[in-house]
Amino acid sequence: MSTGPLSTGPLHARPLQAGSRVSVVGCGYLGAVHAAAMVQLGHTVVGIDPDLDRSAGLARGEAPFYEPGLDAMLRAGLASGRLCFSRDIADARDATLHFLCVGTPQAQGRLAADLSFVHSAVDDLLRILKPGDVVAGKSTVPVGTAAGIADQVAARGGTLVWNPEFLREGFALPDTLRPDRVVVGVPDGPDGERARDLLAAAYGPVLDTAPLIVTDYATAELVKVAANAFLATKISFINAMADLCELAGGDVVQLAEALGHDSRIGRRFLQAGLGFGGGCLPKDIRAFMHRAGELGADQALTFLSEVDAINTRRRLKTVAMVEEWLDHRVLGARVAVLGAAFKPDSDDIRDSPALAVAEALHLRGAEVVVTDPRARANAQRRSPQLRYADSAEEAATDADVVLLLTEWRDFVELDPEVLGKVTARQRVLDARNALDRDAWSAAGWEVRCPGRAPVGA
Ligand code: UDX
Repeated sequence: MSTGPLSTGPLHARPLQAGSRVSVVGCGYLGAVHAAAMVQLGHTVVGIDPDLDRSAGLARGEAPFYEPGLDAMLRAGLASGRLCFSRDIADARDATLHFLCVGTPQAQGRLAADLSFVHSAVDDLLRILKPGDVVAGKSTVPVGTAAGIADQVAARGGTLVWNPEFLREGFALPDTLRPDRVVVGVPDGPDGERARDLLAAAYGPVLDTAPLIVTDYATAELVKVAANAFLATKISFINAMADLCELAGGDVVQLAEALGHDSRIGRRFLQAGLGFGGGCLPKDIRAFMHRAGELGADQALTFLSEVDAINTRRRLKTVAMVEEWLDHRVLGARVAVLGAAFKPDSDDIRDSPALAVAEALHLRGAEVVVTDPRARANAQRRSPQLRYADSAEEAATDADVVLLLTEWRDFVELDPEVLGKVTARQRVLDARNALDRDAWSAAGWEVRCPGRAPVGA
């Protein structure tokens, strides 16, 4: 996926068809970005979301979450007159291509994905579908879901394709407009070919740099969950190595560097630390395991339960490291928490490892003060029992220990000399292996990191 700067100029689309329109059903993390990107590609787009606050906000050019560049792109789209939002599926009637972008969260109390939003969006779409329309499913679904929907769409004269999305939060726009690949699962026969061509025309210039991989439905659905399972496995693998390094006296950062030079392995997603969270990796690997069980292949994915367990232990382990550092006198200790979002450049706190650690330390009696450049308001809503600060300096004032839990650039670039003047003790736990340890220890700090020997003081 591209990490380079995103062109703000319009990409020159090969128009879908004069006067034709695209609808995007479901305007959350995926759909809001997809709608804005489709306008950028030259299409006329209606975004449909039944949530009043969300639709109204989007119609003002305000995304319901923080994503770099998205508000500006929404506003440009709205100003062009080619983007609008509605709560009413009837407003998608003129579109010929409908992107299904609703969420598939983890079902309550189960590992499975909750498909209720997918099914109700499909029911809505069936009411307005015209012969010749194409529905492109982008939501992450258990394999077999598309096959179950295809007949309903075909009964209205439409064609279903499955077109999974691989965007990362924080890089959602470049990942959408300059993806590594575009995958589309299509049915056999002329309708499938026509639908594939329509989708290819819609992506237009995106396909100048990304290969179009045409598959059957099952493969397209599996590519998405397999990719997330692989990424999660890579993270848990390096975190398991971090445990080994601690016991054997090795250094996990050097280990990852050395492994990463092997082009068969690669350095990315080998950042050891607090592990993965967010709205995708944790729930996707669980839904994948559940689906494998339904298909009679549970043993094939047993390893993913270990990947999940290694990841969950990272949070417990981070809490244990703090307890140990405080000589188990956590009650009343002042702990500064830098980061609440599940990753930098996001205000998303879904299954956030950072917030889980902050909550656990609070439960053990610590006085926890959290700061985050973007996720503070969301964190405060979910965890009002914690204290919040506007800046790292404020959070760290009188702290017995400082925890770096989300590696925002603002935190990584903190001046350790300046911060060291406000804390009670100069102790920092860099749970993301992101700080310049030498600079911090030179400024008088004791620095501990997962998978590395402690330095300083
Ligand atoms: C992920 C996939 O990357 C994306 O392709 C898919 O479409 C959605 O799920 P996202 O959840 O936005 O994207 O974040 P990602 O960048 O993958 O990070 C996920 C989590 O893993 C974060 O909590 C991050 O801190 C953690 N992580 C990532 C590590 O702990 N170590 C790493 O080396 C990389």
